Amino acid sequence: MRVLNIGSLNIDKTYSVKEFVQPKETIKALRYEEFCGGKGLNQSVALAKAGAEVYHAGAVGKDGTILTDILKTAGVHTDYIQEMDVVSGHAVIQVDENGQNNIIICGGANDSVSKAYIVSVLDRFLAGDIVLLQNEISNVDFVITEAKKRGMTVALNPSPMSAELKSYHLNQVDYLIVNEVEGKELAEVNSEKISDIMEGLKIKFPDAFIVLTLGEKGSYFFNQSETIYQDIFKVKAVDTTGAGDTFCGYFLGGLAEGLTVQESLKNASAASAIAVSRRGAAQSIPTKQEVQNFQKNKK
Ligand code: RIB
Repeated sequence: MRVLNIGSLNIDKTYSVKEFVQPKETIKALRYEEFCGGKGLNQSVALAKAGAEVYHAGAVGKDGTILTDILKTAGVHTDYIQEMDVVSGHAVIQVDENGQNNIIICGGANDSVSKAYIVSVLDRFLAGDIVLLQNEISNVDFVITEAKKRGMTVALNPSPMSAELKSYHLNQVDYLIVNEVEGKELAEVNSEKISDIMEGLKIKFPDAFIVLTLGEKGSYFFNQSETIYQDIFKVKAVDTTGAGDTFCGYFLGGLAEGLTVQESLKNASAASAIAVSRRGAAQSIPTKQEVQNFQKNKK
């Protein structure tokens, strides 16, 4: 089964800081680094490392060779990525001494993903193939409806949340992969309780398979008939950037490979734990072998 990820590619401009800068404050960074990132790119790298046959589509500028190169190195098909006459997308990231981050994204080429281009890419795929999306490119809703018309399986990681996202055809999404904040917002429940968020999501998206990631509290896979829980693997957090993307890619990669939901969740949890213990986004994503060794050593 092939996975087509139509998603963002960013250059991550990452500042290590003791604590996040506050309003009216000027602080000095401890370190500055540039990494390859973008939720789309990170998820494609994770999918490929998990063993999936993944095609990345999206847009970069002339400065984006480094982004397509890291995808190629990971084994992702990059032929459909467009090079445009604008700058690549980028993100400005602060990582504090606890490994937590905050992120500003600047769309760049990611905002130039047109409907005509999307149709030309989808034309190369078949019913039954998976199309994966995040919310960092233009025309996400168009991809959802167009892919569904073609009988493709649609997986959406609605990140980052936006006001428009709720108006998308989310009822056409087959796999919805959300964190706690996104889950609460989409469930539209006035409660912090996980069980309420899960019930709310089931009511809103009765036909979807839903993955809810809860950071330290583990993750759930659920639909109308079953609920499966996976605990986390505890590690010291160095940089959480891209950990959610690693989880998403490894989870879908596992399913695409025919693993059970429980096995896929476990691999995803182990892979994201490793990613959290390393600096950077895409470069922190482990290989399948590393994920297997990590789990053996944790026994
Ligand atoms: O999820 C992490 C990613 O979010 C970063 O790599 C950054 O580019 C933003 O897209």
